[in-house]
Amino acid sequence: MSNFLKNLRLFLPKRMVGVDIGTSAIKIVEVSHWGHGKTLENYGQITSGAIYKDSPLAIERSSRVLASDFVPLAIKGILEEAKIKTKEAIFSIPDFYTFCTSFDIPPMPENEIAGAVQYNASQYVTLPIKEVTLDWQIISGNPGGSTPLKIFLVAVPNQVIQEYQAIAKNAGLELYAMEAEATAIARALVKNNKKTVCVMDIGVQSSTVNIVDAGILKRSYSFNFQSAKPGDLEFWAAPLVMELKNISAEFLQSEQKQVEEYYITGGTANLPGLQDYLTKALGKTVVVPNCFADFLYPPILESKLRQMAPSFSAAIGVALGGLEIP
Ligand SMILES: Nc1ncnc2c1ncn2[C@@H]1O[C@H](COP(=O)(O)OP(=O)(O)OP(=O)(O)O)[C@@H](O)[C@H]1O
Ligand SMILES: [Mg+2]
Repeated sequence: MSNFLKNLRLFLPKRMVGVDIGTSAIKIVEVSHWGHGKTLENYGQITSGAIYKDSPLAIERSSRVLASDFVPLAIKGILEEAKIKTKEAIFSIPDFYTFCTSFDIPPMPENEIAGAVQYNASQYVTLPIKEVTLDWQIISGNPGGSTPLKIFLVAVPNQVIQEYQAIAKNAGLELYAMEAEATAIARALVKNNKKTVCVMDIGVQSSTVNIVDAGILKRSYSFNFQSAKPGDLEFWAAPLVMELKNISAEFLQSEQKQVEEYYITGGTANLPGLQDYLTKALGKTVVVPNCFADFLYPPILESKLRQMAPSFSAAIGVALGGLEIP
């Protein structure tokens, strides 16, 4: 590409659609960027109560959420209502369909790393390695150096990938990419924060606790902790606090780094009293970040978007990944 074209490309607005098929709702955003600025062009969601006859909580942890013929129709409905014309879309893959782990491999030159990761992955991933697609990155150490390399690995069953490909096609979208929810959320919320941040996403089916250190996702754990049901907040949140303390202690021990801040996301982040309770229980700053904060949008939407922000982190994160922001 000539320099002229390269420069021109920087100033051409690029648009991307981000799709998050969650248990309680399907969330879609359309974002664009111009130079260094970002705009939230459109957004929309449909709750699963409107898609399935039974209540969302009755949906079991299974491929049922995806298998429904209604999902592409629901996506089409959101695109139409939100007036989203862009076809290029990135889908977020939820934590219960992905497997994330990190491990060390011995020092080695760059051209040997892929083979070593593949070999190690087979020890961690329960499915046969030919049935999964692997994505990985080096999170510490340098290829060809003298210290071990730490690898962060994401494995997604090929069947899940095929289901997402079918959904995108049937919804009339061009599947630009797919990304694990954990890395998308890290991009949407932590961005340029160079601290050691623990991001928890409290979902309807399960929750994920991620550690992002100097902007790099270093750990991601999923566990069976579900959104609040009416009742005693402290009783409900106690297992979460225990997991957070254990995960932070493991990180301190293995990386000699203390978690400095906690972020809560997912719709449940808006639960009254949760932020205060966690602040006291953890003795650290606890933030409910707004994934729309860096975007341009009509000011009239401010309070509505702030309220909706926790459930849109994954959709924003995947879409942002597709905007080649210089
Ligand atoms: N103000 C609020 N207070 C408490 N809970 C809330 C509030 N707003 C939304 N929620 C809860 O947030 C949940 C929806 O969050 P979210 O959209 O992040 O879930 P999801 O992405 O569909 O789930 P999953 O990621 O598990 O598939 C619901 O359980 C809802 O009850
Ligand atoms: Mg979710």
